Amino acid sequence: IKIAVVLGGQSVEHPVSCASGAGVIAALAGDEFDVVPVGITESGRWVTVDPEAAKLAIGDGQLPQITDGTGSEVVVVPEAGGGALRVTDTAGGTSVMSEVDVVFPVLHGAYGEDGTIQGLLDLAGIPYVGSGVLASAVSMDKEFTKRLLAADGIAVGEYVVLRRGRELSMEQRERLGLPVFVKPARAGSSLGITKVTDWADLPEALETARRVDPKVIIEAALTGIRELECGVLASEDGGAPDVTPPLEVLDAGPEGWFDFDTKYLGSESPYDFAPQLPDGVVQAAQELAARVFTLLDCSDLARVDFFLLADGTLVVNEINTMPGLTPQSGVPLAWAAAGVDYATLVARLVRMAVR
Ligand code: DAL
Ligand code: MG
Repeated sequence: IKIAVVLGGQSVEHPVSCASGAGVIAALAGDEFDVVPVGITESGRWVTVDPEAAKLAIGDGQLPQITDGTGSEVVVVPEAGGGALRVTDTAGGTSVMSEVDVVFPVLHGAYGEDGTIQGLLDLAGIPYVGSGVLASAVSMDKEFTKRLLAADGIAVGEYVVLRRGRELSMEQRERLGLPVFVKPARAGSSLGITKVTDWADLPEALETARRVDPKVIIEAALTGIRELECGVLASEDGGAPDVTPPLEVLDAGPEGWFDFDTKYLGSESPYDFAPQLPDGVVQAAQELAARVFTLLDCSDLARVDFFLLADGTLVVNEINTMPGLTPQSGVPLAWAAAGVDYATLVARLVRMAVR
């Protein structure tokens, strides 16, 4: 199977995608797969990448990046009956068509996890790993995720959406109460998020979020909660998806919420893969994760994040259609704890996409 692993991308999560992509490339090493690593620079150029030379891991305070001039130019070529990637050797000026069987867009955030690259690959006639256009677009957008889940009776918490140029009214402030989380509506890895405990700090928080996305979502902070996450994998035979037991986020960071540095730059894993939970919570979380995955029409993989309230209620925080797949990310480690190692997980995803 010839597979293009696409990493980097034009979003604030570019470095996380580099690390996730490097993990996937390493997991595909072996005879079964012929891997073509393709990087997307922050300005949107597609180039071949040498994963060894590119230093794609996150660590020692280093955030990896796909740079211009890393490799040969790559272009997606649509073709009836199966598209291809054209790789042009910029030094030699020669170009080769690389007919890949499948693309694994290991991209997080805008232009990667939001349905845009999925649409490009649909048009080009190239199969890919992960959710399609609609599920990706809806799941990337915290407003529409909540609307669809709430319409199905799933608890999602209080929130207000502020589109470009809008401000929070007095009435909305009263309804939400303090503290609130101010988030870009379509982003990930905790980037652009501020916890606001005083309304005086709201303007700055809005500006921070709007630097990532002009559409902002403000969520009421829930108190006395535990944070749980489940990895979801579509079944290979069309049945109900497989779901990991919930992992718990233990180290929520210095401000009491799970920020970027705690996710990726800490020396200790922030997760507990076998948390002690009240009776019934493990099964309830797994069932709810599968329900959310199916309801939003997701394919192949996802991670569903929950808040567990003191009374045992599970509130869905969000769903990620291309969850972090770095070696320190929760999903690969949760699957490993459940008996599915990283290489098996990635191979299963690729085979499902090719079928
Ligand atoms: N968006 C990041 C990668 C995650 O949710 O894992
Ligand atoms: Mg997310």
